[in-house]
Amino acid sequence: MKYDYSKNVKPWIPGLCCYTPGKTIKGYVKLASNENNYGPAPKVAEALRKAAGEINLYPYKDLELRKKIAEYCNTAPENIITGNGSDESIDLVFKTFKGPVLSFNPTYAEYGIFSEALGEKYLQIDLEKDFSFPLERYLKESRKANILLVCSPNNPTGGVLTEKELRRILEEGKTTVVDEAYVEFHGTSFTPLVKEYENLIILRTFSKAFALAGLRVGYIIADPKIIKLLDRVKPPFSVNAFAIEAALAALEDKRYMRETVGKMIKDREMLYKALKNKYATYPSESNFILADVSPQRSEDVCRKLLDKKIIVRDLGKYPGFSGEYVRVSVGTTEENKKFLEALKDL
Ligand SMILES: Cc1ncc(COP(=O)(O)O)c(C=O)c1O
Repeated sequence: MKYDYSKNVKPWIPGLCCYTPGKTIKGYVKLASNENNYGPAPKVAEALRKAAGEINLYPYKDLELRKKIAEYCNTAPENIITGNGSDESIDLVFKTFKGPVLSFNPTYAEYGIFSEALGEKYLQIDLEKDFSFPLERYLKESRKANILLVCSPNNPTGGVLTEKELRRILEEGKTTVVDEAYVEFHGTSFTPLVKEYENLIILRTFSKAFALAGLRVGYIIADPKIIKLLDRVKPPFSVNAFAIEAALAALEDKRYMRETVGKMIKDREMLYKALKNKYATYPSESNFILADVSPQRSEDVCRKLLDKKIIVRDLGKYPGFSGEYVRVSVGTTEENKKFLEALKDL
């Protein structure tokens, strides 16, 4: 049967741009997707082995996980909803609340893809030249939007918002989303503000600090009224049983997570200094560092590193900014040393 999809597809879908994930090649050092290369706590593998015996059952431990997350975040289970990674959380918020969405540039590319896939307008304002947050311009533009979305620490720049800045945004009274995917590498969360602001939605994930990117577990922290609304939209079993067991096990050994995060923060400073000796480099509160490698071309730098079996992220040129950007994730200490060796030859 021939099928002319063009008559049936939502007209804006063919024009969407696709997300490009970081390359993974066996035997290479991957510093391209901001993962935690130390891997998860050993208890996780044990929990997954046990969970294999129960895969005939639908996942049934969501409440248990929400309770544990609530303890970890010093809030209540009613303030939590889980999702299939933060990516599902973003989608869920955009499905539930009215756009347009306002974010900034550069930031995590999926925001634009998810909002536009739903037919919502996606607005962005450029960060300042040094990638700091232009609060006044953002507030001015916020009049055109209904969802105000900020990423802190921001991917790919590594910068954070201050509480004072976030309060100013929240005072606009609009649906306000803070993506805290990398918060463990920064240390301070905006979660306590949820008690004060019913319009605040915080997105968190197990993909980064907890090293569970492959299992897809994220969660949202917000006022219980918002959580109930999101729950109407969320597919009931989007977080699978393995993911739940892994997240529970990871939360049982927070010390392990904190140790690996501690090592990465220490190494981040070492990588920052080394990169800064060579390139314009931006301070990061996350597990990655952004560098402007110009006058070299980002493409050439990434290719030379790839020849040495090191994968970093080529971010090229951003609209509105001059430069050639490369983002380097912080790996294990051993991997970081390999990167520093390779850096000498660039
Ligand atoms: C800022 C930000 N938010 C969300 C995500 C997606 O996280 P998850 O793996 O939980 O879907 C990423 C992934 O890189 C990210 O950088």
